[in-house]
Amino acid sequence: MQTILNLKPESERGSVPEDESSLGFSKIFTDHMFIAEFKDEKWQNAEIKPFGMLTLHPAANVLHYSQEIFEGMKAFKQEKTNGVSLFRPEMNAKRMVASAKRMDMEPFPEEDFLDALQQLIGIDKKWTPKSLGTSLYIRPTLIGTQGMLGLKSSDEYLFYVILTPVGPYFPEGFNPIKIYVEEKYIRAVEGGVGEAKTGGNYSASLLAFKKAINLGYRQVLWLDAKEHKYVEEVGTMNQFFVIDDIIYTAPLDGTILRGVTRDSVIKLAKDNGYKVKEEKLTIDKIVESTKSGNLTEAFGAGTAASIAPVGELFYKNEKVIINDFKVGPTSKKLYELLTGIQYGRIEDPYGWNVLIK
Ligand SMILES: Cc1ncc(COP(=O)(O)O)c(C=O)c1O
Repeated sequence: MQTILNLKPESERGSVPEDESSLGFSKIFTDHMFIAEFKDEKWQNAEIKPFGMLTLHPAANVLHYSQEIFEGMKAFKQEKTNGVSLFRPEMNAKRMVASAKRMDMEPFPEEDFLDALQQLIGIDKKWTPKSLGTSLYIRPTLIGTQGMLGLKSSDEYLFYVILTPVGPYFPEGFNPIKIYVEEKYIRAVEGGVGEAKTGGNYSASLLAFKKAINLGYRQVLWLDAKEHKYVEEVGTMNQFFVIDDIIYTAPLDGTILRGVTRDSVIKLAKDNGYKVKEEKLTIDKIVESTKSGNLTEAFGAGTAASIAPVGELFYKNEKVIINDFKVGPTSKKLYELLTGIQYGRIEDPYGWNVLIK
């Protein structure tokens, strides 16, 4: 797809703040955005233009019936070469197509997605921070824009990509976080849209999230919708537990997101001699195994947070402390391997890093 370039003059462009420790998560955006329209049955008008507001019809489908999907991915400054690399972007391109299909939206083609990222990040590259724990966060978004209140899938869409330099997702950095296990509300049901990265999954989680935050917890751990028994995933991460030296995570049964970090962690773990099982675990087994000393570590894995050790679960009014609230050796090893590849500190035997040309 041909992209029109409508760029800011060099003299008006910014760059990442010198003090990278002040970045926080997504407080500022870069100079440009990519945008393309689907109308008259084809993708067209692809443009890279100065970052700015969208103008939408007040009856736009996304505002009423939530036809919306997005992706979350990162570009990392390479320590040795100073280049900027995307991490497994083809996985996000594919997942976005899968989310679009589930939400009956017009997918943005995978090769155009990858091309748009190359072009946009190529232009705004100097916004990529360099310290460990920082990166350029990328938010590809697809919304239904047809202005019409009858309930049906939109005939028109906008696909856009915005970029924001970010620091660590959790203020704790790579230190244990506290997680609230939600007993009443649920995130996703079998046959529903849990596997799609669609905004509704996140808006439906906000009430439980606020409750967790107010009680001093960072995220919500979701249980299955039917029995409120099996552990599914955490707000923005897939969840892992180490029991009797085996790493467990929930299977991809349609209710949880197919995390890119989850997939990477499983490969890294297996290739480094760990045993991994994709199996359903009950919250009762997790609590019992922690108390008996069999469960030695828990950690979440996701693009935003990378690997986040979990030091406490709050379930049924009880605080369950994991590994004395310390970072365990498995989480540490996997964090070093994953971030080592992402920042180009160690060899990337999988070809996961895709350099911005
Ligand atoms: C609900 C949910 N689960 C898991 C993940 C982790 O997925 P990934 O590793 O692709 O970022 C995310 C983050 O995108 C998420 O929002």
